[in-house]
Amino acid sequence: SDGDHVPALVIGTGYGGAVTALRLTQAGIATAMVEMGMAWTTAGSDGKVFCDMLNPDQRSYWLRTTTDQPVGYFLGINVNKSITRYTGVLDSEKFAGIRVYQGRGVGGGSLVNGGMAVVPKRDYFAQILPSVDVASMYDTYFPRANAGLGVNAIDTAWFETADCYRFARVSRDQAKASGYTTTFLNNVYDFGYMKQEQASTVPRSALASEVIYGNNYGKRSLDKTYLAAAAATGRLSITAQHVVTAVTPAAAGGYSVTMNQIDTSGATVATKTVRADRVFFAAGSVGTSKLLVAMRAQGKLPDLPAAVGQGWGNNGNVMVARAQHIWNTTGALESGMPAMGIDNWADTAGPVFAEIAPFPAGTELWISLYLAITKNPNRAAFTFNTSTGAVDLSWRTAQNQPAIDAAKRVFDKINSAQATVYRSDLFGSNKVWGDDLTYHPLGGCILNQATDNYGRLTGYPGLYVMDGSLIPGSTGVNPFVTITALAERNIEKILATDI
Ligand code: FDA
Repeated sequence: SDGDHVPALVIGTGYGGAVTALRLTQAGIATAMVEMGMAWTTAGSDGKVFCDMLNPDQRSYWLRTTTDQPVGYFLGINVNKSITRYTGVLDSEKFAGIRVYQGRGVGGGSLVNGGMAVVPKRDYFAQILPSVDVASMYDTYFPRANAGLGVNAIDTAWFETADCYRFARVSRDQAKASGYTTTFLNNVYDFGYMKQEQASTVPRSALASEVIYGNNYGKRSLDKTYLAAAAATGRLSITAQHVVTAVTPAAAGGYSVTMNQIDTSGATVATKTVRADRVFFAAGSVGTSKLLVAMRAQGKLPDLPAAVGQGWGNNGNVMVARAQHIWNTTGALESGMPAMGIDNWADTAGPVFAEIAPFPAGTELWISLYLAITKNPNRAAFTFNTSTGAVDLSWRTAQNQPAIDAAKRVFDKINSAQATVYRSDLFGSNKVWGDDLTYHPLGGCILNQATDNYGRLTGYPGLYVMDGSLIPGSTGVNPFVTITALAERNIEKILATDI
């Protein structure tokens, strides 16, 4: 509450924040977490905490009056619907050239994401973060992250027979027929639970079109893993529905952290300031970058280096869908959790790692959807806009062309072998590529550039960056395992040397 003094304050409860909180509390340090989203523990009138993708209500989106579905069109018609403005779980944050999807709530992105837990390719990781010792990442921190996250592998024999993965088998077989390699993807969704869903012995979640607005069962989101373990130490407090707005050195030592308490309509109901000896920025790539860029511009943290705000990328994300022939059914029942990817990363002419994405519409649609991760070299920067008081992101939609080019090589080849075509009705009218959105914001406060090699903001002792903003715009796979492992590495060092 207002006026408190805490030893450690963590801004944000996603991957970077959850790792930080667990390791601090285990080391005996009382830790306060501040989260702008809701706690997501109370069921609505339908008896469920989260709504599904087919019936989005106020719980779906962060402070919007219409939904903003990633695949927002069907037959070229906008299929979004009106909702009550509410602090829902998925934010589609709009910048000039891109919509950045992010989770809002205790657990951050883990509440809304597809749960795919993919360790990046070792040589690519070494390329993107050259200052990090690669051997210790792969020997210690990636395994530690996977254990902490509750990652599990799919039963591959079951996969071959399960109705809910027919869509993935069809895409796999067609990719293989074009000479591409596919790979199973680990997940934090409990595949044992999913088997029971398929057998109809438990309430369905992944098999009930639940994913981007939260999962009511089956998913090991951070509130069930890292955050639960931190809470079990008795040293954790989490304050939800509080938006941190300022961090500045405090006269009495440490930092004063100002926040707005909001209600479910987003209105500020109270403003509070607390003092913290140490502050860990874990508000995500966008949240942390926005805060730090604003603090520098407003003179609250004037000595932050010029590199703060730089190097943002979208992990080369682009979405695309193919129309299947009538005899190639993708299945009316699709698991919301992806389990397979097309791995063409080794192709130097245009590396692509494409998740075979579900389209869980509850009816046969003959659609194969993909989220392609590419090696798009383009980057953007966050800047403070003095006239609006907001932080802008310089990314332009056209910067996604290298991602489209790389993905097009792969899917043109598959289409030509299968005599199929792209769906051009799902991302707009006559628009093949979903090129104006990302699920994977990365960078803005890059390790060993904006911070030291362990996430310290060196001009300000006691300030640390712990989240996806440390990663320079790309990691070649879905990012949360990389974010978690890097946070494990950094907090271990910080605990050993600073605290
Ligand atoms: P993260 O965004 O998780 O957490 C930041 C937290 O800080 C949020 O809870 C936010 O509300 C809070 N916050 C921000 N600003 C604040 C402020 N000023 N004050 C207080 N709190 C503030 N990745 C993957 O590896 N596999 C996958 O399958 C998927 N799938 C996927 C699907 C969808 C729909 C999305 C949107 C994303 C994914 N991702 C994914 C991406 C993954 O979820 C993402 O990379 C991580 O959640 C990022 O972790 P961070 O710790 O960086 O921030």
